[in-house]
Amino acid sequence: MTSYPMTRLRRTRATAWSRAMHREVLVTPADLIWPLFVTEGDGVEDPILSLPGVSRWSVDGIVARAKEAVALGIPCLALFPNTQPDRRSEDGKEALNPDNLMCRAIRAIKQACGDDIGVLTDVALDPYTSHGQDGLIDDAGYVLNDQTVEVLVGQSLNQAAAGADIIAPSDMMDGRIGAIREALEGEGHVNIQIMSYAAKYASAFYGPFRDAVGSRGLLKGNKKTYQMDPGNAEEALREVEMDLAEGADSVMVKPGLPYLDIAARVKDTFGVPVFAYQVSGEYAMIEHAVAAGAADRDAMVLETLLAFKRAGCSGVLTYHAAHAARLMGA
Ligand code: PBG
Repeated sequence: MTSYPMTRLRRTRATAWSRAMHREVLVTPADLIWPLFVTEGDGVEDPILSLPGVSRWSVDGIVARAKEAVALGIPCLALFPNTQPDRRSEDGKEALNPDNLMCRAIRAIKQACGDDIGVLTDVALDPYTSHGQDGLIDDAGYVLNDQTVEVLVGQSLNQAAAGADIIAPSDMMDGRIGAIREALEGEGHVNIQIMSYAAKYASAFYGPFRDAVGSRGLLKGNKKTYQMDPGNAEEALREVEMDLAEGADSVMVKPGLPYLDIAARVKDTFGVPVFAYQVSGEYAMIEHAVAAGAADRDAMVLETLLAFKRAGCSGVLTYHAAHAARLMGA
């Protein structure tokens, strides 16, 4: 006697309308945060060779990108400066200059777009130090925690005064979220958000980013004494728990796809807004696969973004943001 399956999971997959009706998660332009690299000059577009399709823009170009993002429905930009070599120093003090590249870009975007778009700013010293580390170092090259936190607080207040909407510390020093939160409150910046790069791993996927901000050639050694060990998951939950207790509004997991388990566990454990950073090396992997004829860019981009949403992320920082928003019909 032939027995037929009563439950056929393929029934709901048989037609496009039915697949659309049963899809559990969606990705829209509102899920995207667009990282942009700022450079000196006027009318400058400077392509980043290891990040094919991505350029550094001078402040006027950044404003144009901001307007483009608004038109596409992208709610937030993440800014990173390529500081001129003569403004980098051992102590990274250019981070505290109210007229540094970052502050000029923030002010220009806010002037042009106001609250039509959010500006998320990276807090860490690597774009400003002559040694490429995210903090102050001692004679042995060890990154000093508490001394660095003091500078990061100043950097955060500097960005806040320029008009930043979300302060995003990516430095992985202990205690920086609490110190920054206290300083922001003290200055009356009660509605400035903190998105903590809470679970940031010492990853091999950051290479093209370091080219983009100009720190790759300067960096000696690695960042393993402050960024997390790729083998650890329980520790990521502790990092998130601490940053939330210190006043973070949302947390980030970085890199993205290789750490999707971490994003899902953070969401399941804490139920807070979690963002993933699909980092430069992940972007480069997709672009090089496309260039080699091994992949369909549009399908791959949308599938990876959907994966972040399925894992529980509220949004994704991606260099494909504008392209993806266009694919979504924005
Ligand atoms: C540094 C910082 C890095 C990234 C964002 N902020 C690199 C690093 O930690 O060395 C990486 C982002 C990317 O690879 O796209 N504070």
